[in-house]
Amino acid sequence: MWGEEENSVALSRIERLLDPTDGLVLVPGSGAGRLAWDLGQRRRVVALESNPLVALLSHALIRGKARHSVEFPRAPLGIDDVAVHHLVKAPVGHGQLEVVLADLLNPPFSSGSFDAVVTHWLIDVIDCPFTQLVNTINRLLKPGGVWVNSGSVAFETAQPTHNLMAEEVEELVLSGGFMIEIREQEDIPYLRSPHSRQQRTERVHSWRAIKTAETSWAPWNHLPAWLVSGNQPIPQLPAFATQSASVRIHAWLMSMIDGKRSANDIAAELARQGLMPQTEAEAAIRNFLTVMWEEMQRSG
Ligand SMILES: C[S@@+](CC[C@H](N)C(=O)[O-])C[C@H]1O[C@@H](n2cnc3c(N)ncnc32)[C@H](O)[C@@H]1O
Repeated sequence: MWGEEENSVALSRIERLLDPTDGLVLVPGSGAGRLAWDLGQRRRVVALESNPLVALLSHALIRGKARHSVEFPRAPLGIDDVAVHHLVKAPVGHGQLEVVLADLLNPPFSSGSFDAVVTHWLIDVIDCPFTQLVNTINRLLKPGGVWVNSGSVAFETAQPTHNLMAEEVEELVLSGGFMIEIREQEDIPYLRSPHSRQQRTERVHSWRAIKTAETSWAPWNHLPAWLVSGNQPIPQLPAFATQSASVRIHAWLMSMIDGKRSANDIAAELARQGLMPQTEAEAAIRNFLTVMWEEMQRSG
């Protein structure tokens, strides 16, 4: 199995930023748990992960079980590199690590439970505004507790105002009740699979921040209440009205396909009903049928 260099570079950076802090460490968004496992050899660590597949995988691995995994490189070197089988097994026991399957944004811990929180490749992928994450970490830390972060700053959400630059991230950490003691940037090897033609280098942004003030916190749900509970009225959102109109038009178009009519025949019918001018209707119907046909090719 490859990746030892990437793991050891990450571990030594996190240990350096954690020192001299002792006590209970939370690693939220721990993935399959390698960093949490490494930290757990010397420290008491709780790994928290919301994806059941990887949470259960790390739970099994830290108990000494071996698991098969298949790597699918994005750009395989050759025919033997398309699906590479690995046997994954931890070299020694789990030390002082426990794995919890839970959502960091609704954490099953009381406030002030941890001496340190380590976020590793999490801040730009977790599904909430960054201030919500800052307030959640603030709440979980004891007064004077330490937040160590390391990973990319490459936000890519649908909300442009949530896609922060490193400077904005820092401002929000400071206004969220933290003082930044150490900040650094480093180019690191990343996802350097020997089975792939692509080898990444990533500039990671890291800090060690100390909790200096409490902030207010409320649990976060990215889904609206009417969707979560299932028994509240569904609001008449503009997107639903648009969707309903386009579904009706699609259903009508599909009903016009009888194995005899051409695209132009259907366009003529649209024009006859006064729904669209003939030339616009011809283009619209051809676009609609092209999308349908391409989707059919993709799905087989
Ligand atoms: C990019 S991966 C990083 C994994 C690991 N920290 C590492 O460095 O290899 C982000 C992880 O965060 C987890 N995650 C995302 N949102 C989460 C949440 N709200 N609560 C807990 N885990 C979350 C994902 O399931 C994923 O395993």
